[in-house]
Amino acid sequence: MLEIQGLNVFYGDIQAVWDVSLHVDEGSIVALVGANGAGKSTLLRAISGITSAKEGEILFSGKSLKKLPPQDIVKMGISHVPEGRRLFSNLTVYENLKLGAYIPRSRRSVTQSIERAYDLFPVLKNRMNQKAGALSGGEQQMLAIARAMMSRPMILMLDEPSLGLSPMLVKTMFELIMNLNRQKVTILLVEQNIHQALKIADQAYVLENGKIAMTGKGKELLSDPEVQKAYIGTRWSKS
Ligand SMILES: Nc1ncnc2c1ncn2[C@@H]1O[C@H](COP(=O)(O)OP(=O)(O)OP(=O)(O)O)[C@@H](O)[C@H]1O
Ligand SMILES: [Mg+2]
Repeated sequence: MLEIQGLNVFYGDIQAVWDVSLHVDEGSIVALVGANGAGKSTLLRAISGITSAKEGEILFSGKSLKKLPPQDIVKMGISHVPEGRRLFSNLTVYENLKLGAYIPRSRRSVTQSIERAYDLFPVLKNRMNQKAGALSGGEQQMLAIARAMMSRPMILMLDEPSLGLSPMLVKTMFELIMNLNRQKVTILLVEQNIHQALKIADQAYVLENGKIAMTGKGKELLSDPEVQKAYIGTRWSKS
């Protein structure tokens, strides 16, 4: 479904992603894990067209995304929940959701999509007229995901959805991600919570200094001694 071949991404003279190749099968959960600064967010931004300085190829259902602007990439069915949520904090929950439906295809079915968002995230329904800025961290993360779902994506890219959440909410967040996946949404998940991410991932890639250091099925990597030692031991929280 999504195929990346030999991707290099640059910030001016600095190269942040080196020769990355990966693929995301339709219907799967793919995790992208690695330390701070490994290039995870850069990779997502390159896919969604926010970062344009790139070499190599990004194919979605065989079509190149490399030269497309972000709004065209959303139209093709790829939605990105960025690091730090980026909500409009002075607008209400309802208004934020509505803004997620800006592409023509989803504009026609806004009411239906908002109902669906409230079904998926009942807590948002209770708060629909509140300002997004007044929500808790977990509720804001749910709103960010619900907003990204408004464009009816085929692939949802999530950048650290569990960051800053309490252990209980982290669990809820991962359950939610699995629930979305069961509803046929393909997931590309960036996480620092490696343990949880590998547990639910069909396929996983470990990024180190902008390069793919390891790949395998989530559960295989989870039990790999090298991954355990480098990422799941003392430096990484299991919560
Ligand atoms: N706008 C930018 N301009 C210049 N360099 C950047 C920019 N954004 C990121 N970088 C650099 O690119 C590299 C990869 O950063 P990126 O944000 O993709 O990492 P990450 O894996 O998402 O890290 P984290 O886990 O901390 O979110 C880092 O060395 C970072 O300093
Ligand atoms: Mg990041």
